[in-house]
Amino acid sequence: MRLGFACVFGVALANAAFVAGGIIAGYAPAWKDVSRVDWSKYTHINLAYAEPQANGTFTFESSYNIDEVADRIHRAGARVLLSLGGYSGSAHISEILKAGDSRGRLTSNIVEFLKAHNLDGVDVDWIPSECNKVDVQNDASNLLVFVRELRQALDSAAMSSGAKRLIALGVGMSPFTGANGQPLGDVSEYANWVDYINILAYDINGQQSTTTGPNAPLNYELGRGVQQSLVTAVDNWIRAKFPASKITAGIAFYGRSATSTVDMSAQPWNVYQAQVAAVPRGDDDDGLWADRCTGKPPSYSGVWSYGNLRKQNVLQSKESAASPWQRNWDSVSLTPWLFNSNSKMFISYDDTVSLSAKISHVVGKGLHGVSVYDITMDYDNELINVIRDSVKPDSPASSSVPAQSTLKSQSASSTPLPPLPTTSESTSWQASSNLLPPPSPPAPSSSLPSHDGDSAAMPRAGSSCGWQALYKCVEVDGRSSQFMQCAAGIWVKQQCGAGTACVQNGEYVYCDYSR
Ligand SMILES: *[C@@H]1O[C@H](CO)[C@@H](O)[C@H](O)[C@H]1NC(C)=O
Repeated sequence: MRLGFACVFGVALANAAFVAGGIIAGYAPAWKDVSRVDWSKYTHINLAYAEPQANGTFTFESSYNIDEVADRIHRAGARVLLSLGGYSGSAHISEILKAGDSRGRLTSNIVEFLKAHNLDGVDVDWIPSECNKVDVQNDASNLLVFVRELRQALDSAAMSSGAKRLIALGVGMSPFTGANGQPLGDVSEYANWVDYINILAYDINGQQSTTTGPNAPLNYELGRGVQQSLVTAVDNWIRAKFPASKITAGIAFYGRSATSTVDMSAQPWNVYQAQVAAVPRGDDDDGLWADRCTGKPPSYSGVWSYGNLRKQNVLQSKESAASPWQRNWDSVSLTPWLFNSNSKMFISYDDTVSLSAKISHVVGKGLHGVSVYDITMDYDNELINVIRDSVKPDSPASSSVPAQSTLKSQSASSTPLPPLPTTSESTSWQASSNLLPPPSPPAPSSSLPSHDGDSAAMPRAGSSCGWQALYKCVEVDGRSSQFMQCAAGIWVKQQCGAGTACVQNGEYVYCDYSR
C-alpha cells in the first residue's frame, strides 16, 4: 500500500504549477470559541452564519463580538466576509429570491450589515436539504438576478479604502440545477457578478451511505461509494464554463465516523465495508443534535475534528494512530482512515498527507485557492500550515487592501454536514453539526402510549419503557441539556450537543442552542 500511495501521489505532484493571487478562506462558526485561532494563517474569514427570514431580514448571533473579531482579523491581514445561509439558514432563500421586495430587502440588509461592521463581503451558502424550499423552475435564474443586484448594490457602497466588497458562493458538487432538473451546461454568466465560488467537496460518503467510505475523496472509486469527488466536482464546474481561476476547493478539517459490521483491519485496502445505520458518537465535542425542522429526535453527528483526533490520542502524531486504532491509507481517494477493531469504529478524515494531494490538484487545475471548514478544528496549525506553506503573500496585507498571496506547488518533502453547523436567529440557535441533515433514528410513535402509563412523569434512568422510541427533556424550561431516551426497552439519560439545551415539542425533542 505504501508503494502504491507513493506512485499516485508522485503523479499528483507532477501536475503542480504556480497560481497568482490564491486565497485561503476559513469558516469561523458563530457558536464556537475562536479566541485561539491564528487569523494570520488565512486570507479570508467567513463569519458563519446569518440566517435569513422569509421577508428578507436576517440576524447574525454569535458567541463572539463581531466588531472585535472583525478588527482582529483585519489587523492580522485577512478579509472578513459574512456567511449567509448554511444548512438551517437556507430554508427561505428560494422564496426570498423569487419575490422582488424580499430579495431587495435581503440585498439592502446585506449592504447595511457589511457597512455597519466594516466587513469586506458576503458569502452565500445556499444549502439544499429536505427542509429548505426549492423551486427547480426558478431557483437558478433567481440566483443570477440576485447576485447581479447584489453586485450593483455593493459596488455603489464601496469601502472607505476604495476596495470593492466581495461576493462568494458556497456551491455543491454539480453546477446549479436548471429548470429541467439537470445541472446547467453554462454557468459562465454567474462569474460576471461573483468573485469566486467555493465547492463544498466533503460530507460525500457518510451517514446516508450503506457502506463506510471517504468523507472527502480526491478521486472516487468506480462502483464503490458515492461516485463523486473533488476532482469530478471541479471538472463539472469547469466543463460548465465557470472559470477555474474563480473556484476554491472546500477542505474539511474534520472526519466522520461510522460503525462497521465487520473487522475492517482484515482488509486494510478496502475502505468500503457495510456499516450500521446508527451514527456513533464522534469526538468530545459531539453530542446528540437534533433538527427542529425535521422534528427528528437527537442523534450524533459522528464528526471528529482533526484537532480532537490528536488531542484525544486517536492519532499520536500526524501520520500514526495510537493503539488500538490503526491508520490506513486509501490509495484511490488519497485519504487516510482509522479503524478500531475493538469497537469496529471507522473514521475517514483528512490529514497533512491528503491535504498535500488535494492542494496539488488545486494548484494543477489553476484554482483560486481553498476554503476550510472550520478554523477551530485544526491542531497546533498542523493542517493550515500545509496549506500556508504553499502560499507566498505578494505584499504585506492590511485591512484596506485585499491580502495578496500566491499558491505555489508543494515540495515533495513536505509531507486535506450538520456539519455544517448551522445558524440562527436572535432567539433560536438550531443545532446541527454539518452540511448534511442530521441522521434519522427511529421516529417516535405518536399513536402508542408510553409504558409508564403517566406520560407526564419523568422516567427514571434504568426503568423500563416500551419498545417504541420515546424522548423526554429532563427539564421542560429548555435550560437543561439532558434528556431521557427510551432505548431497547430501558430509559437512558442522554446529553445534547455542546452548548445546546433540550426543548420538548410534543413527543419530539430537539437540542437547541441555549438562550
Ligand atoms: C421580517 O420577519 C421577521 C421574523 O419573522 C420579523 O421579526 C420582522 O419584523 C420582519 N421585518 C419586516 C421588515 O417585515
